[in-house]
Amino acid sequence: MPDPKDSWARWLTTERFAGNETVARAWLEQLEQIRDRVLRSARLKNGEVFLDVGCGDGLLGCGALSQVSPDGRVIFSDQSTELVEVCRRVATESGGAERCEFVTCDARMLDAIADSSVDAIGTRSVLMYLPDRALAFRAFYRVLKKGGRISLFEPINAFGFTGYPDLDRGTDFGSVRDLRERIVQHYNRIYPSDPTVNFDAADLFDAAEAAGFATIQVRAELTGISAPPRNWDAILRTPPYPGLPPLAEVLGTFSPEDRERYERNIRPLVEKGRSGRLRMAAAYVTATK
Ligand SMILES: C[S@@+](CC[C@H](N)C(=O)[O-])C[C@H]1O[C@@H](n2cnc3c(N)ncnc32)[C@H](O)[C@@H]1O
Repeated sequence: MPDPKDSWARWLTTERFAGNETVARAWLEQLEQIRDRVLRSARLKNGEVFLDVGCGDGLLGCGALSQVSPDGRVIFSDQSTELVEVCRRVATESGGAERCEFVTCDARMLDAIADSSVDAIGTRSVLMYLPDRALAFRAFYRVLKKGGRISLFEPINAFGFTGYPDLDRGTDFGSVRDLRERIVQHYNRIYPSDPTVNFDAADLFDAAEAAGFATIQVRAELTGISAPPRNWDAILRTPPYPGLPPLAEVLGTFSPEDRERYERNIRPLVEKGRSGRLRMAAAYVTATK
């Protein structure tokens, strides 16, 4: 694949794994579990049309194809043409591309998709990035047939968020609290109004209801664990968000002494799994038109 040019394509295909096999495997295992749960709740049947909104590199759409087979279709849609093309390539290589459509469009409009033309919609971690996500729910409602379903997964990052880089969430910063504060301020300056931390599960419920969905169920899951040992280099090199600098780049703006002090204090805690508590939350949303 040529080097991706848009920040989402770059982040999804390379940056999020920090070039590390172990990190990639852990991510993919988790993603497969989420995919299976989202698709189970979508209750797909042979002959149906499934729309993957914000398809990325095709996690949901590729999984759905066998479930609507042999007569159904999958539409891969994303605002990134590069990612839509990644999906086309994957579907062509694995077979079944003739039963797929590939469209570039915004989740808040879905203007390439006809009214009442889709049986089920799946998304994973897309609405969280939209400041005006209510528009997306309205678009979902418009393109679904009567009785059509949505099945969504969204992280609820507002729960437990302490500022970027969120990858070291849960760390007790102790004697380097001043440096941590400078890092958080650095990210806040670049990204002052972050849509990923301004909503919770009830907001997703409200948006589905306001769009007109008849039956709605939101399952919120709050998880607390002791932070496991984590790979420091991956934390340094992974941008917390497409377009945001990785921690290494922010630390690069510090003096060598401060950089060394931060790493000396935090790295052992992170690598030994002694960095405190991790709080995480997610919502699984299903609704019927
Ligand atoms: C975290 S990725 C998730 C990708 C995929 N759903 C998955 O489960 O792997 C977020 C995706 O949402 C897409 N996206 C972001 N804003 C969007 C928008 N306004 N309309 C459509 N897609 C969008 C990005 O291009 C990216 O592919």
